[in-house]
Amino acid sequence: MNTNTLPKINLRELTKEDAEDRYQWCLDVDVIRHLNMPNKYPPFTREETRQWIDMCISRSNGYEQMAIETGDGVHIGWIDLKNIDKLNKHGELGIAIGDKNYWGKGYGLAAMRAMLEYGFTRLGLNKIWLRVEVDNEKAIKSYRRMGFVEEGILREDRLRSDGYVDRLRLSILKSEFQA
Ligand SMILES: CC(C)(COP(=O)(O)OP(=O)(O)OC[C@H]1O[C@@H](n2cnc3c(N)ncnc32)[C@H](O)[C@@H]1OP(=O)(O)O)[C@@H](O)C(=O)NCCC(=O)NCCS
Repeated sequence: MNTNTLPKINLRELTKEDAEDRYQWCLDVDVIRHLNMPNKYPPFTREETRQWIDMCISRSNGYEQMAIETGDGVHIGWIDLKNIDKLNKHGELGIAIGDKNYWGKGYGLAAMRAMLEYGFTRLGLNKIWLRVEVDNEKAIKSYRRMGFVEEGILREDRLRSDGYVDRLRLSILKSEFQA
């Protein structure tokens, strides 16, 4: 993929003020449809959202979660690495562009590229993997474009309101990212 043409983004530390955007984004069923969230609506209360953001800021939940901003400072989503296995040097990626106005413009790819760079260089990981529901075509396309390849199918891995769905497990190696 030619990453030179991707839009400018900035990954920054979360702040307490990010909780309201996060809460509003999670009221949007299009945004949360494929996210690993409780099967209720809204998935989290304002207070739960604030508590979650606080845990991310204090790094007390095992997440390396960052806010995604456009080059001109608009807060548009979040991205994280979790389930970090220090022994085997891999971790799991998660991403959401919460503001739908910014979908399909390359912001997801730009944020992923920055997070992969962070994971491979700053955290010293060798592999970054993810799980994606088989019917989340938009995300799968984006991950493949980024260079993720399929490791296998996790059968009935996610329980949604419409029943169990399979998830694909995809990954990218440090050597592939740097090539
Ligand atoms: C999945 C998700 C993160 C993808 O992010 P995105 O910013 O919408 O997607 P991308 O960065 O891959 O954008 C690529 C699209 O932008 C277009 N694009 C426009 N300008 C571009 C540019 N300068 N560079 C690259 N692509 C560009 C591409 O052509 C492509 O369009 P296409 O999908 O019609 O082919 C986002 O849709 C999302 O947050 N979805 C909801 C949450 C979710 O499902 N998360 C994943 C859970 S596993």
